[in-house]
Amino acid sequence: MRVLVTEPQPGKGIDLLKSRYDVTVGERGEYDREERLKEVIGSYHALLCCLSTPVTSDILKAGNKLRIVSNYAVGYNNVDVETAKEMGILVANTPDVLTEATADCAFALLLSVARRIREAEDSLRAGEFDGWHPFGFLGTELSGKTAGIYGMGRIGRAFARRAHGFGMKILYNNLKRLEPEDETKYYARWADSLDELVHESDVVSLHCPLTPETRHAINKKRLAKMRQNAILINTARGPIVDEAALAQTLHENRIGGAGLDVFELEPKVHPDLLTAPNCVLLPHIASATRETRARMSALAASSIISHLEGKPDHAIPTLVYQRKT
Ligand code: GLV
Ligand code: GLV
Repeated sequence: MRVLVTEPQPGKGIDLLKSRYDVTVGERGEYDREERLKEVIGSYHALLCCLSTPVTSDILKAGNKLRIVSNYAVGYNNVDVETAKEMGILVANTPDVLTEATADCAFALLLSVARRIREAEDSLRAGEFDGWHPFGFLGTELSGKTAGIYGMGRIGRAFARRAHGFGMKILYNNLKRLEPEDETKYYARWADSLDELVHESDVVSLHCPLTPETRHAINKKRLAKMRQNAILINTARGPIVDEAALAQTLHENRIGGAGLDVFELEPKVHPDLLTAPNCVLLPHIASATRETRARMSALAASSIISHLEGKPDHAIPTLVYQRKT
């Protein structure tokens, strides 16, 4: 059987696949173009791809032999899941293994923005440090503030644990309200709507998937409802935020700042965000720890192996759409 891995990745997943199948590994970014992927997909039984790989309906239809798409990411908005489902192609992702790394990164962004770490460090490197200063880089304290979490899944909960550890109150909104015991466990209070969440939070951190419902959930209207010193953190997906509206809000100093790991049109970053005050921007690295990337690799490969070998391993958390026979 033939497996296409769109580009090299850290971890042992590729070796695991090579020990069983005929594996082709593309070059970095090679299959980010739909035309390129379409040329070759017809001869593969399995695809191990990245969140930058456009697994569109056309690609799936050109995949005559394709039985599984294993996405090296937890988010799978790059895959046309509906078409895959219709065609009986299994779609797998890499949940759980990246939860802690992603929540760490969201928290790193939050601390950086709250304490103006980037600006302060830039100033020091520019030779401007002239001694301790009563007014130097005044930031915001996290303790006692309210963290508003939009999307209380695995990563949202991991963020909540961190926020609680820093003495923050937790408010959340989610597709579904948590069970009362989970609300107790995470010290989390339910907000009836996203409007209420943004209005009542000092920090708004996004942890929902990108869906038609969450696209531009943080729009001009909701940004206007945020508190004067509030901080927006996005480690989920860029298009959940209307970037132009956010950039304008930051330039007008109507919120405290933003920390973003994801962008609407990656790898492009809205030019007005690059010049916005108190904004920390990262190149989509939330899951980028050696430990996590190794686990993602093993999980993505084992989803392929268990599916191709007809031994669905129910311990593997995948989005399972079994091929119709
Ligand atoms: C990264 O963005 C992921 O979805 O894993
Ligand atoms: C600050 O460095 C202090 O000692 O208060």
